[in-house]
Formats: sequence, structure tokens, C-alpha cells
Amino acid sequence: MVVPRPAQLANTGDAPFTLLPGARIIVAGTGAETVGRLLRDELATDCRRDLVVVHEPPAFGDIAIVIADDEGPVGHPAEGYTLEVAAEGVRIGAATAAGAFWGVQTLRQLVPAACDGDPLTVDAVRISDHPRFAYRGAMLDVARHFFPPADVKRFIDAIVLLKVNHLHLHLTDDQGWRIEIASWPELTLHGGSTGSDGSPGGFYTADEYRDLVAYAAERCVTIVPEIDMPGHTNAALASYPELNADGVAPALYTGSEVGFSTLQTGDAVTDRFVREVIGEVAALTPGPYLHIGGDECLSTPEEDFLAFIDHAAHVVTEAGKIPVGWHEMGRSSNLPGGTVGQYWSFRTPREGAADETLSFVRAGGAVIMSPADVAYLDIVYEEGDPIGQDWADGATDLRSSYEWDPARIVPGLGDAHILGVEAPVWTETIATIEQVEDMAFPRLAAVAEIGWSAAPADTADIDTARDFDAFTARIAQLAEHWDALGTSYRRVADVPWPESVAG
Ligand code: ACM
Repeated sequence: MVVPRPAQLANTGDAPFTLLPGARIIVAGTGAETVGRLLRDELATDCRRDLVVVHEPPAFGDIAIVIADDEGPVGHPAEGYTLEVAAEGVRIGAATAAGAFWGVQTLRQLVPAACDGDPLTVDAVRISDHPRFAYRGAMLDVARHFFPPADVKRFIDAIVLLKVNHLHLHLTDDQGWRIEIASWPELTLHGGSTGSDGSPGGFYTADEYRDLVAYAAERCVTIVPEIDMPGHTNAALASYPELNADGVAPALYTGSEVGFSTLQTGDAVTDRFVREVIGEVAALTPGPYLHIGGDECLSTPEEDFLAFIDHAAHVVTEAGKIPVGWHEMGRSSNLPGGTVGQYWSFRTPREGAADETLSFVRAGGAVIMSPADVAYLDIVYEEGDPIGQDWADGATDLRSSYEWDPARIVPGLGDAHILGVEAPVWTETIATIEQVEDMAFPRLAAVAEIGWSAAPADTADIDTARDFDAFTARIAQLAEHWDALGTSYRRVADVPWPESVAG
């Protein structure tokens, strides 16, 4: 009944819990009050209940959130939690605010959302849960089409229900530059002024970006900023003539080609640009990661590409952050130790992607798995869909996005070297947040479960190792929560959606 599937869930068979009008949210321990207030707000949205948050001993019928070192499942302090539902009350225990917040997300899914006026009852259960991987991510491409802060917050609200704890923002590309850089103001003033298909563009001021990062952090989500370099840089090149070899700025670009732009690697102005941009973005980033792209640099000579990304990655470490890059960066053997690679080839690796990915591990780094044919959520669900792309071997239905495993893709790359999984939403064809959500849900739930829940039994055939029918039954129950939240989702044929759900 919960997505992602918890590590251990037992129905106790005892009398259920009833959420009565006088129920309170009891909080104890560092960070519990914030988590309690989020639960209060979420229950108000999900099922129109109005609870108070108090620091008092629990009484019959209360919901307690307790954070202390010895709470939560043994061996899983970072994000683990326990959740007990009984007639007397509900109790969430965790060693950290993150663990408690994920326990809250589980509780939300157990409480019926379509609940006007009815007494709200929850079956008595005992849950002990923790993630398989530390990094469960979604990516939003705000460069092709710009999404204002309110849209990004709405997306954060939707992903936390699935315990997704990283939001990678693809902030720059040929079609737009979306983050204010004080030392290079034309990047946003000019480079941010349009987007794909001539869409209006836009950008985040530094203050708006800080606010987004804080909003995410309160919900246990780390924002991972990406400044894509040295390719995918037409918006920057169009903003500053001096970044171009011939001193002439190209026109702004609103099409969907890739691979035609490159920074002038080795040039002194480019070097200053890279240092100042990375310095400012690092200063806006409390999280550990700063992504520098490195993908599809088809116009950058190989030697220049290697020298550039080595240099840029070292600038990131000097700025105090861990560099992250798409797997092409693994062609270098001089990246700083600990650089994180992001795999975006297919379930069966192509064109050197496996070796490039392993090179991050050889340098002491880890890998985020985003295989494009199963984890790219801008790929159409079925051929003929009006929005989305189909270059990743055609359509990706819900079953495909569920029946794969990150540790069975690159030979030699197992759980120990996998930081986690991430599902990107590229937006060349996607213009509104409703369209983003329609492409993301329910498929993001599949990727989130792969990232959180235990690996399937070690059978040879991954297609039979995951129980797709049980997964779709659990997805059907999410629909009422998506309806309550106002989250758009695709009513794919595989899911036994409840009749009453509007969709
Ligand atoms: C990518 O899809 N170019 C990372």
C-alpha cells in the first residue's frame, strides 16, 4: 500500500487507528517541530484535517514524531524510520529529521485522502524502513522551458511524497541561462530572455534561488545545480561576444538541436568566466554537489574537452563542492578524486559509456544511474503521444520504467559504487508544470521505488524479479493523493485506477 515499498511492513491485526477531530501532532527532539508542521500542512491538503502541533506527552489518538539517536531502525540512522499505527495512536521514530519526514510521507499514504466527512481509519501496522540508495533524484530542465519558482516548489511537493531527496536543476543550456550571476549579468538579462520554441524565458534571481534551496531543504531535498559546459552553452555565448573565438556573439537559439555550441577552452576570458560562475553558484549552494554537465560536446576537440573538464572539475573542488558530470566526463583520467558520474546511456551500455562510467569509480567517485530508455521521463509513454521525445529506443511505458535495476547495467558497477538513481525531465517539448507532472507521474514513482526499496532477489531475469502487478495496485492508491495535491498524472492503461478518481 505504500510507494516506495517499505523494507518491512507488518499488519498487526489489531484494531485500527482512527484520526479523530481532536487528534494532535506531538513532537519531540531536534527538528521534529518542522517535520510536525509539514505533516500538519500535508494532512490539511490531503484530507482537510486541521491538527495542532504540540510539545506534550502523547494522549490516546495522537500522532507522535520522536527524533533521537536511538530512534529509527538499527544501522540506518541517516534516513531510516519506524512507524507504528495502533488504536492508541501513531508513532514515528527516527534518528534524523529526514528519517522522520520520510516516515511522515509513509503515514500520508496510509491515511485515506478521499475522505470528506468520513471517520478516517488506518489499519494497524508496524513499519521499519530505510533506503537502498542515499541519492534518489529527479531532474527538471528549466533551461529549455523556464519554470518559475512556484512551479518548482509544486514539483518539490510532489516528489517528496515518493521520498525523492535530490532535485537536479538543469539551469543552463543553448536555449537559456536561468540563474543570476552577478559578475556576468547579461547571462540572464540576454541569455535568459527566451527559451525553446520562442517561449518567454525567465530566470531565478539569487534571492529566488536561495529561497528555492531553503524550501527544498526544509523538505529534506537537496538541490543540485547544473551549469552545463563546455557544450550546451549558446545562451552564454550569445550574451558575451568575448566568449567567442571570433568575438561575435551568435543569435539566441530556440530550436532543439544539440552539440553545436562550445566554450573556447583554454582562453583566458573563458577561464575567468568558469571560475566566477562556479564560484557564485557554489556560494548559493549549501548542498555538496555542483554539476558541470560535460555531455554531447560534439563541437569541442577531444583534447580541449579533456583539458577543460579537468580544469572545471578542479575549480568546483576548490569552491568546496563535489563535481558531478554526465558520463562523458569519465573519458578523463585526471578528474578530482570523488567526482560523481551520471550515467545516461541505455540499459545496455553503448559507445564506451560503461568504461567512461567505471572511470569515476576508479577515481574514487560514485555514480548516479539515469538510463535514458527507462529513466528519462520526457520520453513518450507510447508512440504518437503529443508531447515528449522518442529517441531513446521509442516509448517508455510504466512497466519499462519499473523493470530494471541500477546494479545490472554496467558490468562491474554494483550497489557499493552507485550513489543512487535519477529521473530527468528534459523540456524541449514540455512547456507547463502540468505537462512536466503528466510525464513524471506515475513513472517517477517507479524510479523512486528502484532507488529506495531493497534490490529484487538475485534472479537472472529482472523482468520477473520485480512484481509489477503489486506495484500498479499501490500506484492506484496514490491517485487520490495526487488528486488532493492537484498533481497531474498520466492514467496509463497498466494501472487499476479507482473509479472515483477524476484523473
Ligand atoms: C543528456 O541527455 N544529454 C545528458
